[in-house]
Amino acid sequence: MTELNKIALKIISNGKGILAADESNGTMTKRLEAVKINSTPENRLSFREILFSSEGMKDCIGGVILYDETINQTSSAGQSIPDLISSSGAVPGIKVDTGTKELSDSPEEKITEGLDGLRDRLKKYYELGARFTKWRGVYSISEKYPSKLAINSNANALARYSAIVQESGMVPIVEPEVLMDGNHSAEVCLSKTSEVIKKCFNELILHKVDLTGIILKPNMILDGNLSKNKISNEEVSLKTLKCLKDSVPKEVPGIAFLSGGQSEIEATENLNLINKNNNTNFIMTYSYGRALQQSALKVWSKDTKDTIATQNTFNHRAKMCTLAAQGKWASELENK
Ligand code: G3H
Repeated sequence: MTELNKIALKIISNGKGILAADESNGTMTKRLEAVKINSTPENRLSFREILFSSEGMKDCIGGVILYDETINQTSSAGQSIPDLISSSGAVPGIKVDTGTKELSDSPEEKITEGLDGLRDRLKKYYELGARFTKWRGVYSISEKYPSKLAINSNANALARYSAIVQESGMVPIVEPEVLMDGNHSAEVCLSKTSEVIKKCFNELILHKVDLTGIILKPNMILDGNLSKNKISNEEVSLKTLKCLKDSVPKEVPGIAFLSGGQSEIEATENLNLINKNNNTNFIMTYSYGRALQQSALKVWSKDTKDTIATQNTFNHRAKMCTLAAQGKWASELENK
């Protein structure tokens, strides 16, 4: 077993999942302003520190993805944030892409940037304690899109990123997110997501990335959010499994889904069914941002001094997701 494979397994084994707390300052500002909290470095840290020091971290969270601002911050007790995360047994990680820009020649689509200077940034993040990283490619579905150009360019960037990250001794999370925005059917989502993931693996293999030392972070297969049709949760799980079985090489140790705008319960229920029906050898877990933090953020915004209520809310959500990552969740457990 290689060191990278060990790190990947430590993050996702035994029902543990990933807390994606890597919202850029821009995205975090939107989240905080939506609950009428000023987006200052102190407030962003305060909410995140409450999550990182909660009980639920120990049993449920195998890794936390941080943003550059947070990995450089210090807790109220004077501990570095990566140390605070490690002290709960979770692995600190860092988002290393620098966001998306218009794709030239197809300006309605996006290309993710951040390869320039990446090696040097990784050295610094490793010294700060990070042992895994994240890079998100984003694709939208419409009659024309995603174009071959967007599929190829983003796959190439994801592979170049992954190779440099592994060279730096860290596990790359490979995140090709096919957005749920639009009125497309789940069938179309299935065929586009499969095409995107297959192309990513072609490029990863071309760039000699060790597939046992990555974690794939894909979207689930869903109807577009504007579609009149809604397939059942059972169908979501079966289509998602079909997609991954057909397009992910067997060497990959695990898959950690993004929530992508699903509600907390929807994301939990779908993950639970994916695990109940799992006919692959992949570990299937979560790497949720909104679906782990939404309720906790609402509670915190009502009284930012009430750490206990915020942590209880987060602990419950993390526990439900961890049960779902083992196929042991049931809706009745939500009210206990
Ligand atoms: O890159 C996306 C985030 O890490 C996951 O966020 O679960 O809210 O989609 P989400």
